[in-house]
Amino acid sequence: MTKAKLSLDGKDYEFPVLVGSEDEVGIDFTTLRKTTGAISLDPGYGNTGSCTSTITFINGEKGILQYRGYPIEEVAASASFEEVCFLLIYGHLPSVDELATFHDKLIHHSMIHEAMKDFFQDFPPTAHPMMVLSAMVASLSAYYTRGAVDEDVDLNIIRLLAKVKTIAAFSYKKSIGQPFIYPRNDLSYTKDFLHMMFAVPSEPYLPSDVRDRAHNLLLILHADHEQNCSTSTVRMVGSSQSNLFASVSSGVSALWGPLHGGANQKVIEMLEQIRDDGGDYEKYVRMAKDPDSPFRLMGFGHRVYKNFDPRATILKEAAADVLAELGTTDPLLEIAKNLERIALEDPYFVDRKLYPNVDFYSGILYRAMGIPTEMFTVMFALGRLPGWIAQWKEGREDPKAKISRPRQIYLGATQRPFVPLEERAAKKATKAEEPELVPA
Ligand code: SDX
Repeated sequence: MTKAKLSLDGKDYEFPVLVGSEDEVGIDFTTLRKTTGAISLDPGYGNTGSCTSTITFINGEKGILQYRGYPIEEVAASASFEEVCFLLIYGHLPSVDELATFHDKLIHHSMIHEAMKDFFQDFPPTAHPMMVLSAMVASLSAYYTRGAVDEDVDLNIIRLLAKVKTIAAFSYKKSIGQPFIYPRNDLSYTKDFLHMMFAVPSEPYLPSDVRDRAHNLLLILHADHEQNCSTSTVRMVGSSQSNLFASVSSGVSALWGPLHGGANQKVIEMLEQIRDDGGDYEKYVRMAKDPDSPFRLMGFGHRVYKNFDPRATILKEAAADVLAELGTTDPLLEIAKNLERIALEDPYFVDRKLYPNVDFYSGILYRAMGIPTEMFTVMFALGRLPGWIAQWKEGREDPKAKISRPRQIYLGATQRPFVPLEERAAKKATKAEEPELVPA
């Protein structure tokens, strides 16, 4: 299978075919417009590859997710989040010495410039933590990047990984009016974040091993996911040679949307709404199926996974285990399980291949760790950070890299003479001229 044939206006064309290492087939359309005069049209890019990559592989039909070839189930069971950061960004599992050096660099770059603390003061207490995170990540470029192109990418990668958890914790402390807690060099990446979130000057906080393991698992499961909306955004911004901080800041903004990373917050708000509405989850399934209702079952469905999201499977088990180990229950977990059971038997969801995604159970775990709902998407961003960095780096190191600039098909008004204001005023009040839309 080396060529794809296309017939257009009675002429035949051939295009090369690329077969990936996991047997994915891509038609190479890089010469499509030059040879045929036509472009491909694929709103939402559901059928379009924007790049080749060696970082993450997903098989949506089989529910497979691999980081640099390692199955997510094995990585989640054995790795630390710092190992996964190193693996995704540098392409191999770190040796003991490499990991020790990486950790040492992370802990010695985890403070933010003291002047940046003042930025938090001027955000209103109601500012969403994702807005704060996006603004503060972009602000890092004021301190660490001279000009548009990064001078020292590896150092800025360490700075970004190390400082984002401090910024995230500070944004939470700001939102509840508590003093900032500085990072500690004697703690792991995950323990240090929870310490900065929940310690107060008069009382340290060290998460239990159960909570720390749950946090490590959540970060790993969110670490990368091919060319999702926010990662594609980071790569696109990076393609203009914007610096790492500006590129990742744009990814934070893309992740914030409720159809993407913002879904985890919406899932919990939906489960709380069902609980407060008497627990009638079947009513909400009916609403989700109603074509006249904008209501969607948050945490269900996925552009790629059309069987099951392996991350949701892992999180569902972990949520039950963590709650059991903490000796607590969460009524929302029971509602979630009932919602899932009902939905998976219902033809509406089965026919559309709508299964629980990573966001459906993650909120239960975040709650068990004591994370407030408004911080859920920030937790997703903390996890996705190494993926964004790895994908940005891969794009920037591509010798054939070009600025991303999609085409379009225009459906607006054809050329017409401009009518100056005086002439328009002179005309009787007529209906505003609307362009004749070309029927799609
Ligand atoms: C993430 O891309 C990634 O990899 C993302 C992510 C990552 O790690 O980066 O995995 C993280 O973003 C997970 C998704 C989180 N979002 C949600 O849970 C929000 C709820 N889900 C949806 O809005 C939706 O399923 C999407 C956005 C996730 C996927 O949308 P698609 O692929 O564009 O599918 P679609 O909107 O075209 O829906 C197809 C059909 C439609 O019905 P019909 O027009 O065919 O009648 O399924 C219906 C939709 O109405 N549908 C739903 C639904 N999701 C899709 N109906 C009810 N509830 C839902 N959740």
